[in-house]
Amino acid sequence: MSSIVCHLPIDTQNGIATDARIKKQRPPPLVVSRPRDLIQEACKHLSISDHQLRRIMQLMEKSMEQGLATSTKNVAVKMLPTFVDSVPNGTEKGDFLALDLGGTNFRVLHIKLEGKETKMTGKIFRVPESIMRGTGEALFDHIADCMAKFMEENNLKDATKLPLGFTFSFPCEQDGLTKGKLVTWTKGFKASGVEGADVVTMLRDACHRRKDIDIDVVALLNDTVGTLMACAFQENTCQIGVIVGTGTNACYMERLDRIPKLAGYVDEHGVTPEEMIINTEWGAFGDDGALDFLRTKWDDAVDRESINPGQHLYEKMISGMYMGECARVVLEDLAKQGLLFGGHSDAISVPHCFPTKFVSEIDSDLLEDDDRTFQKTYQILEDIGVEMITANDCANVAYVCSLISTRAAHLTAAGIAMLLNRINKPHVTVGVDGSVYRFHPTYPSLLDAKIAELIVGDIEYKLMLSEDGSGRGAALVAAVATRLKEEKLAAMSSALSASKQ
Ligand code: GLC
Repeated sequence: MSSIVCHLPIDTQNGIATDARIKKQRPPPLVVSRPRDLIQEACKHLSISDHQLRRIMQLMEKSMEQGLATSTKNVAVKMLPTFVDSVPNGTEKGDFLALDLGGTNFRVLHIKLEGKETKMTGKIFRVPESIMRGTGEALFDHIADCMAKFMEENNLKDATKLPLGFTFSFPCEQDGLTKGKLVTWTKGFKASGVEGADVVTMLRDACHRRKDIDIDVVALLNDTVGTLMACAFQENTCQIGVIVGTGTNACYMERLDRIPKLAGYVDEHGVTPEEMIINTEWGAFGDDGALDFLRTKWDDAVDRESINPGQHLYEKMISGMYMGECARVVLEDLAKQGLLFGGHSDAISVPHCFPTKFVSEIDSDLLEDDDRTFQKTYQILEDIGVEMITANDCANVAYVCSLISTRAAHLTAAGIAMLLNRINKPHVTVGVDGSVYRFHPTYPSLLDAKIAELIVGDIEYKLMLSEDGSGRGAALVAAVATRLKEEKLAAMSSALSASKQ
């Protein structure tokens, strides 16, 4: 048996008071797990040095260059052109519908833009797992159904075709603003018949099938693009949009002369833009083995049991869909080695019993609880059904959680710092959104501090929480597209009347 039984409060290890002071009615049993240094040794590969982070930055930039050079086949980081080449100029106005599909919820929003003011009404609908993994037709019928309900409830059914922005937060190979083929599902979706199909056509077809809603899709966009646009509306130095939520991804403004696969591109107005937003799909970084030098056996385990093994490996080390599971497999392994819970591993071995919100709650125990009583941690472990919990176990579980979330923040920092170095402009704002960024207690500050260490030269940057990029951003992309179309029509008609004179 690997645990030590003691009858007296044990003393402090590594600055963490580990005496049995958990304020619970039922005192924790005085069974103490093996000391912290064994846990530290077992977990040492979860800490990434600055040297390794710099190597990640180099490898990621190399992967991105490969993605920019060729079409998406056989490259890990797809670098998808978004056909968004203008950011809002503040004059956008009008009424828009926005659809937001990217996780377990689907949202329909009605957005009124008027100068810097935005008014939004919206409704959230759940996407049941049976629909996420059923047929594509059923998924889009569900979307159309939710949209019809929302329009009915908000007296919008008779509105003449409202321009619609569709935030579809999966990798899409676009060849225009209103066309995009799904490259591959991510984040637990698996609806059949959608990969390789144009999702805008699927949406329109679903609306035609039910005949009672008439929509005008003017833009298809990724959530990172919405995030960038929503921030750019407030702050014109915004050049990067990042999501750290269920999944993780980034987009940024790239110069067209650095996108070889768009050589010779002219837009529908016959103009070659100077820049275009590229949806990096960085979640897939490492799918070609580039991250093998620091992936652990626990990352392998999380990947193996996922719905898409071998895919989106960087995302699986960072985002909310996987962070809790990653902590769980580490804890399971430590329990099996006799380093936690008196060697009892049954409760912690249940897949997905430790969601990412537990990592956040346990990390806030470390932050808020001066006495290191780890009450929340104890409660969580008890709720999961772990039986032999000691004060020392709680401290060690909190330690593992902090390693996992710090690693996630540092890996993301490497990606953002690399983009900042690449863009190399003196002042850049990075729009960020997503549940991990919003709700994890230390993730934002860890991220910020590490970016500051990894950037080079005199670059100044600022992280800005994006206010609902997937909704407002979609309306803004739709609005910019509508404005450009109107400007073009106006230019054509004045050219026509000039030629008649
Ligand atoms: C996944 C998707 C990507 C999305 C990200 C954040 O990585 O592939 O398109 O932006 O999740 O939602």
